[in-house]
Amino acid sequence: MNIQAAKTLSTLPPYLFAAIDKEKRKARQAGRDLIDLGIGDPDTPTPKHVIEALNAAAKDPVNHKYALDAGMPQLRLEIAAWYKNRFKVELDPTTEILPVLGSKEAIAHFPFTFLNKGEISLVPDPGYPAYRNATILAGREFYAMPLEEKNGFLPDLKAIPQTVLKKAKLMFINYPNNPTAAVVPQGFLKELVSFAKKNEIIICFDMAYSEMCFDGYKAPGILGISGAMDVAVEFHSLSKTYNMTGWRIGWICGNKDVVAALAKFKSNMDSGIFQAVQIAGIAALKSKPFFYQKMAKIYTERRDVLVNGLKHLGWPVKASKATFYVWTRYPYKMNSIEVANMLLDKADIVVTPGIGFGNHGEGFIRFALTQDKKRIKQALKRLSKI
Ligand SMILES: Cc1ncc(COP(=O)(O)O)c(C=O)c1O
Repeated sequence: MNIQAAKTLSTLPPYLFAAIDKEKRKARQAGRDLIDLGIGDPDTPTPKHVIEALNAAAKDPVNHKYALDAGMPQLRLEIAAWYKNRFKVELDPTTEILPVLGSKEAIAHFPFTFLNKGEISLVPDPGYPAYRNATILAGREFYAMPLEEKNGFLPDLKAIPQTVLKKAKLMFINYPNNPTAAVVPQGFLKELVSFAKKNEIIICFDMAYSEMCFDGYKAPGILGISGAMDVAVEFHSLSKTYNMTGWRIGWICGNKDVVAALAKFKSNMDSGIFQAVQIAGIAALKSKPFFYQKMAKIYTERRDVLVNGLKHLGWPVKASKATFYVWTRYPYKMNSIEVANMLLDKADIVVTPGIGFGNHGEGFIRFALTQDKKRIKQALKRLSKI
């Protein structure tokens, strides 16, 4: 029998990161000492008290059963308390918060939950690939909103054609931003809320990097803006904030009809987050912000080493106020895949080519600050010899 997956799978753009992984594996097998600045995954462990909470909870048989789809009430209460403390906005833990198996899971399920035939999503380009790929998998179309340097990597809302706006039902938007490391001014978020109301578009504001902020900067949420609760939800994640990428825990919060629709969809897809992980999540959220403040200090130092070093080598790079990414043009006359391959071949350095995040990412590469300062200095030394 000739096994054929659904056509939607073959219409996904080629998964560039898989190709990079293959090259990395080959290089490692050949015994080369790679400095991996490619992956956006924290290199340091989850806080100890969170691991201890998981250990204890995993031993209790009460937690071995199916979890509640909508998350433990205590977790939703803790999320509400964390959110209020951070953003000064009161959320109803029952109707306005929904724990998810990492924000990627929620993102991936949004197009399935909301898009009817003929309706589309608006996605940033460059952007986190799950927005567009989930739309394709749901059998729907997306419109790419260019994020251009001259606009501070914000989408130009006025440039979206009326014909597109008529069909648009979801907008994915993400600040602090992966991959550009850009941040969003509060004024833009106000503009976005009125735009969403006028055009009846649900704003999916992805805040996976909300606490990875430097130099005293604090990333704004959208829900505090007047009228936002009518049109917006935020996606939050414990992955980057508490070094819990492998644990699969996050939440969405905001408009209650949007939250209820995703909850209904999800109840048919998964059976909640392992309760011991939810209890560990509660321990993370309960703790004072010392952990992520410490991490932000570490990333600031790494950013400064990399950015200053690259500048010294003639790269046109700028330091950003948030995320553990450095998004930059490069001093080579090549496309971004050629640069990534060249850095791997000649310097054993792994970076991510900008094109992997969309056509408007061409001409850039992304460094992730997921190696310590010593390794970053070593990478700079290698770069200086190219
Ligand atoms: C912008 C953005 N959103 C969401 C995610 C998904 O994070 P998680 O599913 O671990 O919460 C990532 C992960 O890299 C990301 O960069």
